[in-house]
Amino acid sequence: MTTCSAPGKVYLFGEHAVVYGEPAVPCAVERRARVTAEPRSDDRVQVDARDLSLDGFTVTWGGSVDDRPDVDAPPGLVEAAMRYVDEAVAQTRDAVGDPDQGFDITVESDIPLGAGLGSSAAVVVAAIKAATSAVGVDLPPEAVADRAFRAEYEAQDGQASRADTFCSAVGGAVRVEGDDTRRLSAPSLPFVIGYDGGAGDTGELVAGVRDLRERHGFAADTVAAIGDLTRTGESLLAEADAEGLDDDHLDALGELMDVDHGLLSALGVSARSLDEMVWTAREAGATGAKLTGAGGGGCVVALDPTDATETALSLAPACEHAFRAELATEGVRIESE
Ligand code: MEV
Repeated sequence: MTTCSAPGKVYLFGEHAVVYGEPAVPCAVERRARVTAEPRSDDRVQVDARDLSLDGFTVTWGGSVDDRPDVDAPPGLVEAAMRYVDEAVAQTRDAVGDPDQGFDITVESDIPLGAGLGSSAAVVVAAIKAATSAVGVDLPPEAVADRAFRAEYEAQDGQASRADTFCSAVGGAVRVEGDDTRRLSAPSLPFVIGYDGGAGDTGELVAGVRDLRERHGFAADTVAAIGDLTRTGESLLAEADAEGLDDDHLDALGELMDVDHGLLSALGVSARSLDEMVWTAREAGATGAKLTGAGGGGCVVALDPTDATETALSLAPACEHAFRAELATEGVRIESE
């Protein structure tokens, strides 16, 4: 039996645009998904999912999402969780060279589902590492990232970038542009996260941006503008890392986050609750704030070294939960075996 954990992430810059080959800079944060895998003697897969923001559930199936189990849990949640775990198991079987290997899998996570903090990527990354390790195959983080990307790509019908899975597998701040993935040297930023208690449908939101971009040149220009902004943000981050993070860097990074949020809103992926939390953060003194991840609901990320933004968000009607998130310098790791 092997237990592995992998962190969630926030996007400093570049979500959605990264799907079209623009760069993105996600940063792993210390909220983790933990997956335990135990090899079975048959070819079945049993999944016990706990603490996924909603009631836990247990399902057993023969390794295919076609065998839909009858469980007392929201059908969308069960289906989504099963698809991700199913694809993670498919990648694991391929990696270990045994198409019939069964597993008992337990998933625990303190990353809210579908909220822009990379919950599915963290679960897939931790699941692949735990299941391969449990049968004695040691995959390095980059190989886990690649297999996790393929799993997420399948689970999301071909609509996924490498950003979430690479960031969760290797940890820290990363840069992703198409297939080019690398770790960035970056200072630890004072992230504050506001969570509206809801979730967005990543597939639908990505499809909406794709449609807008195909129909309107200005939407394509907006996607390209997010890419330009991300390149500027990357240089700033490198400067802050070299010189030591100061207030000027925080102001400049925050300004870019504000613009990024405006561009994402123009692409139709914000929501009233996200806009309200962004404005609450800015008015409380955050140097910048934006939605993170696919949008539609879920989380915003703000920069504020003081307690003011966290306090203001925790009192805001749109915000269910506000918390500070540290950069997770370590990606996927074995917790016990
Ligand atoms: C979702 O967390 C981030 C998106 O850019 C999609 C992706 O990169 O796969 C919206």
